[in-house]
Amino acid sequence: MFIHKSVFYQKILDHLKLKEGDVAIDCTCGGGGHSLGLLELVGSSGIILGIDRDQEAVNWLQSRFNQQIKDKNFILCQDKFSNIKKIVKKYNLTSDIKAIIADVGVSSHQLDTAQRGFSFQTSGPLDMRMDQSANYPLSASSVVNDLPEADLAEIIKTFGEEPFARRIAKAIVKRRQINPFVTTDDLAKLVTSALPYKKSKKHPATKTFQALRIFVNKELEELECLIQDGFSVLAKGGRLAIISFHSLEDKIVKKEFRKLAGLQTNTHVSKYFPLTDKQLKVYNKTEGKIIRPFPVKPTDEEINENPRARSAKLRIIEKII
Ligand SMILES: C[S@@+](CC[C@H](N)C(=O)[O-])C[C@H]1O[C@@H](n2cnc3c(N)ncnc32)[C@H](O)[C@@H]1O
Repeated sequence: MFIHKSVFYQKILDHLKLKEGDVAIDCTCGGGGHSLGLLELVGSSGIILGIDRDQEAVNWLQSRFNQQIKDKNFILCQDKFSNIKKIVKKYNLTSDIKAIIADVGVSSHQLDTAQRGFSFQTSGPLDMRMDQSANYPLSASSVVNDLPEADLAEIIKTFGEEPFARRIAKAIVKRRQINPFVTTDDLAKLVTSALPYKKSKKHPATKTFQALRIFVNKELEELECLIQDGFSVLAKGGRLAIISFHSLEDKIVKKEFRKLAGLQTNTHVSKYFPLTDKQLKVYNKTEGKIIRPFPVKPTDEEINENPRARSAKLRIIEKII
């Protein structure tokens, strides 16, 4: 059984303008929650291409959408979404894509399965790979046990935004010389003991675990590539919608969307200060229109129903040329 409650289920579908017979892509199929909504919108004459890099998710989706796969309404593909251009070509979908969605990060199923090694709350092997095939040999265990201290500190600081990154890296290296890390709870305990105080409500190892996961799966590079290549394969009038869960991801979505909409990253657009001629020239050539100036955020009710939605942000861009 694959347990994952989709975040912004209705909101993302409402922003897509999909109709019967359309083609759309779910880049992070996971448990298939959003895909099911997409399938309902495009009906029996439409096609949904579902991508996930995790074999366990793909096995689950294979059985969940068995009938739709047989009926050729649903195409299932195990791959990373940065390969979207190649995938679209492979399935001959190049000219019709009306919507692309991505609900990035890990699923509740991945987090809650101790054997996958994502969680500091259970004891499992230090793995954290979304794709556990031989193509991706670098697990969290290799990062923690083999990388030089300075690199470890950089990873924890950059991808975890952890102010005590150097202190944690030093403690990890000291401990691994005696006894290498094997399990998630072992690492979580060491990180907790390395911190000078623990006054936050969050578990002290949250930021370190986030950093390792992002590094192991190259999550930020994946996201940047998806926005650029995903947008390029959309049909005119098509929409790209991304749900992100932390500030590092949202910064990338915001920056890339602004580039596609012809807005320099730091350009402040206001009705009181019209764009200069130079800015207008760039703006008029642009391919994208940002659908809402601010991201969609969860309501209190959504957070109560699904605490994972707490930090979620949804941004949407439309291809206008
Ligand atoms: C938050 S879950 C998506 C849940 C899904 N929207 C649902 O309603 O069930 C994220 C999923 O995206 C997959 N994923 C994350 N990064 C990926 C990437 N770069 N390429 C392909 N799949 C990815 C993960 O394996 C995970 O199954």
